[in-house]
Amino acid sequence: MQAAWLTDIHLDFLSRQGCDTFFTTIASHNPDVVFLTGDISVAPSLLAHLHGMSEALHKPIYFVLGNHDFYHGSIGEVRASVREGCHANLLLKYLPDAGVIPLTASTGLVGHDGWGDSRYGNYATSPVKLNDHVLIKELTGLTPSKLEQQLLRLGDEAATYLRKTLPLAFDRYRQVILLTHVPPFRESCWYQGQVSNNEWLPFFACQAVGEVLRETMEARPHCQLTVYCGHTHNSGTAHVLPNLTIFTGAAEYGVPQVNAVIEVE
Ligand SMILES: [Fe+2]
Ligand SMILES: [Fe+2]
Repeated sequence: MQAAWLTDIHLDFLSRQGCDTFFTTIASHNPDVVFLTGDISVAPSLLAHLHGMSEALHKPIYFVLGNHDFYHGSIGEVRASVREGCHANLLLKYLPDAGVIPLTASTGLVGHDGWGDSRYGNYATSPVKLNDHVLIKELTGLTPSKLEQQLLRLGDEAATYLRKTLPLAFDRYRQVILLTHVPPFRESCWYQGQVSNNEWLPFFACQAVGEVLRETMEARPHCQLTVYCGHTHNSGTAHVLPNLTIFTGAAEYGVPQVNAVIEVE
């Protein structure tokens, strides 16, 4: 099975014709399935872009959402509208609702959005301000300590889901692929060929998820977990454990690409 992996495609930066051209490029790789690791669009156009992609490709699209997908909206409302809006389209699968997806006889797929959860780096002294903190309802107008509480909560939510779902996946499969938006480890948080610094790390990586992945894989040395993520728009590969590899994908606004065509065994 071949999967086309795309991350941070930000379709809201493209015209309708630009989207159609990009969908044709994806189709030219003739993938069996598509993996989409978030920052697909922005809240008001997200569902239209997902349905447009589905109509153009006629292949299963397994996706998680990134922070930009909630811009000009709320996390709770966007997730609910995606659940509702994708219900009738069997090709669109929002992974946090999907549990374990069978890909091949030996490989299963799981996923969660994840979030820059403020744990890595130095949140208390970071001068970084993201558009997240003015464009996403739940994160707007908060004091630094209230914002930190929300970021911790979002990271915990992803970690709780994966702590429950990954063992179910490994009960059935020796190999598991995890899609998430935010890099789960410091060493998977690439920026211009290096790991992000302590000012950016609080917002660019999800420690709560990283801890679950490390725990899960240390307990299963004969199993393999491969993670695909994005968010930093810079590419790199991190071998965190012998059985845990993280691919972080590059991206450029207005120039979406197919990050890789993955051969799923
Ligand atoms: Fe992005
Ligand atoms: Fe992002």
